[in-house]
Amino acid sequence: MTRRAVVAGIGHYLPERVVENAEFTKWLDTSDEWIRSRSGIERRHFAAEGQTTSDLAIRACQAALDNAGCTIDDIDALVVATSTPDLTFPSVGTMVQHGLGMTRGFAYDVQAVCAGFVFALTNANALILAQQADRVLVIGAETFSRIMNWDDRSTCVLFGDGAGALVLEAQNGAGTSADRGILAADLNSDGQYRDMLYVDGGVSTTGTSGKLKMQGNLLFRHAIDKLSSTADTALERAGLGHEDVDWIVPHQANIRIIQGTARKMGLPMEQVIVTVQDHGNTSAASIPLAMSVGVNRAQIKTGDLIVTEAIGGGLAWGSVVLRW
Ligand code: ACO
Repeated sequence: MTRRAVVAGIGHYLPERVVENAEFTKWLDTSDEWIRSRSGIERRHFAAEGQTTSDLAIRACQAALDNAGCTIDDIDALVVATSTPDLTFPSVGTMVQHGLGMTRGFAYDVQAVCAGFVFALTNANALILAQQADRVLVIGAETFSRIMNWDDRSTCVLFGDGAGALVLEAQNGAGTSADRGILAADLNSDGQYRDMLYVDGGVSTTGTSGKLKMQGNLLFRHAIDKLSSTADTALERAGLGHEDVDWIVPHQANIRIIQGTARKMGLPMEQVIVTVQDHGNTSAASIPLAMSVGVNRAQIKTGDLIVTEAIGGGLAWGSVVLRW
């Protein structure tokens, strides 16, 4: 028997306020047509004033716990992927822990920007395989609207707020690629690219939280190659090929990157979960949000082979292969 980390439930939360592309034309030289055709984004959600990343995460966790049919008492640990924490410290994880009424176990944050959920999922899998925990809430939660420069049309139209969470639980498998659960992962980073996407503030520099800066067209050139190659590596580690994949659940940054990566992997768009049109780029929240929507749409079903892939600031990128 092989110990596996299996998804037992999933949920998400999106703030109420929906902002359509047209709203940006009120103060920016942009258009719905440009945003749609260059990124695939039509609308995004923004957190209300006073609504924090941990608030969004708590709502997503409650939905995931309900979906898994368990309560917070069944959870041993929380791992939160975020780059937009409520405070510099304590972690969003401990705030979510408190918000859910959990006084045992442990919680912490993982920061790998848009690739954060892939890193958090890999980390939570390791906790389960090392028998540090039997059930882990893995969360991606962001309020990127708080780090936008609203006068920079090349970035502020691309991002949104939201949270997704899943319950990962220890189960026994046969040790083959037919098992449910996480089968393989591949993580990468290369700090030489830090200027491609960063926030121009921080605790030990400006003492402010700063605003996002991105050289989108440079990043675009790295994205498709790095995403398809990390997905291929993770699949190979699982002993699987493109023909075994039921769904790609990509990071939702740009429809052209999503399409290009699927094309490079030889998979049709009918096998890709796409939510970028409705959510924009929600950074670490985008993959669990897309997974949750994919389950709600009855696209993702028990036994399906899923490949996730994400790239973001760092650069940091990676992929997880799991059977739902
Ligand atoms: N409206 C109208 N015109 C615009 C806008 C806008 N909102 N934004 C930029 N433009 C203009 C530019 O000024 C430029 O004009 P110019 O040619 O006169 O100089 C022109 O449009 C083309 O700009 P590009 O940046 O070359 O456009 P591109 O086709 O590359 O699309 C985009 C931009 C959507 C940002 C794309 O490059 C992209 O998606 N990059 C990758 C983003 C990504 O994957 N990020 C990683 C995850 S994010 C994270 O980790 C937090």
